[in-house]
Amino acid sequence: MNIKQDFPILKQKIHGKELIYLDNSATTQKPKQVIQALKDYYERDNANVHRGVHELSMRASMAYENAHQVVADFINADFEEIIFTKGTTESLNTLAYSLGRTLKKDDEILLSEMEHHSNFVPWQQIAKEKGAKIKCIPLTKDFRLDMKAAEKLITKKTKIISITHCSNVLGTINPIKELAKKAHNMGALLIVDAAQSVPHMKVDIRDLDCDFLAFSGHKMFAPTGIGVLYGKKKLLETLQPFQYGGGMIQEVTLEKTTWKELPWKFEAGTPNIEGAIGLAKAIEYINTIGMKNIEKHNQELTAYAIKQLSAIKNLTIIGPKENKDRAAVISFTLEGLHPHDVGEILNQEGIAIRGGNHCAMPLMTSLKINGTNRASFHIYNNKQDIDALVKAIQKAQDIFK
Ligand code: ALA
Repeated sequence: MNIKQDFPILKQKIHGKELIYLDNSATTQKPKQVIQALKDYYERDNANVHRGVHELSMRASMAYENAHQVVADFINADFEEIIFTKGTTESLNTLAYSLGRTLKKDDEILLSEMEHHSNFVPWQQIAKEKGAKIKCIPLTKDFRLDMKAAEKLITKKTKIISITHCSNVLGTINPIKELAKKAHNMGALLIVDAAQSVPHMKVDIRDLDCDFLAFSGHKMFAPTGIGVLYGKKKLLETLQPFQYGGGMIQEVTLEKTTWKELPWKFEAGTPNIEGAIGLAKAIEYINTIGMKNIEKHNQELTAYAIKQLSAIKNLTIIGPKENKDRAAVISFTLEGLHPHDVGEILNQEGIAIRGGNHCAMPLMTSLKINGTNRASFHIYNNKQDIDALVKAIQKAQDIFK
């Protein structure tokens, strides 16, 4: 199976060199199957959903509803539990505002030091508004959650625990099942930012027993602008919508409004129909390759990359060195070199990586660094890509000697 061939964008050269795309934690490229599905939709089926009785609207509605079912099956949820959003950020903001309304003064929200800003700032803001407190689980020296500290931080005051499944900087995969148990023992809810995990590993929400989970389509071969908020049905039923408008109401009178059934209650306005169709196609693509195969491929590549990068002088990997509970995201710093300079040299070599704080400033503060370079892999990457990365890093070191 030559997977690279499915991705037309990867066929190009950058600065005369073959493009090596290692920025998959930021977004993945799109296979031709997804691109074709979008083209087919606009050339054949485009209409608004849930509104018309005409043929095109029925086709668009069916495709849109089918996408909910495909996503539900993918994470072992029920149809009613899948809400489409713009992405992980909107999913988490929806929760912060919707669930945040139920918070009282001195209630506690527990986050961790490795959260992305999208799982930090919304909670910080709602906590300010409600007089609630933010607490953070610190990290161990090997870049994992300090579960002993977590044990002490989870108390009767804790109402919400919102944690990333996999750090977008460190690659650390967190013990969500254990956290869910601890949260539920104290009567708290567990929210999972799964932006970096769902694209790379089998995620089963029933097995994790999380209450809510958020992820984005664009990090898993689907278009930008489509994401998912999963919530346990009984919780979604009691939750107030965050956005109001068309498509989500049952009845509107001058005095009051009643909501449509789940999941539509949380999907106000014309949704991202093409995004949903693209996401369903992307999941079909993943299922054809097999999530187990994707996971194995990415783990092998990560192990190889850690070994090769560790051999570079003056390079420090910022993240766990062992492969267990670790994803295909490798951050590193180079002594005396600014991440942006490294990124620029690598760009000249046709290699795309990210440099900076990766929207995780509290983590950078805790690690006492300004930023890192980050290489992140997916199914179309191979060992030659890692070898090219190593060579380009050495070139950058030579240039800035
Ligand atoms: N959250 C994405 C990243 O880590 C954009 O790069």
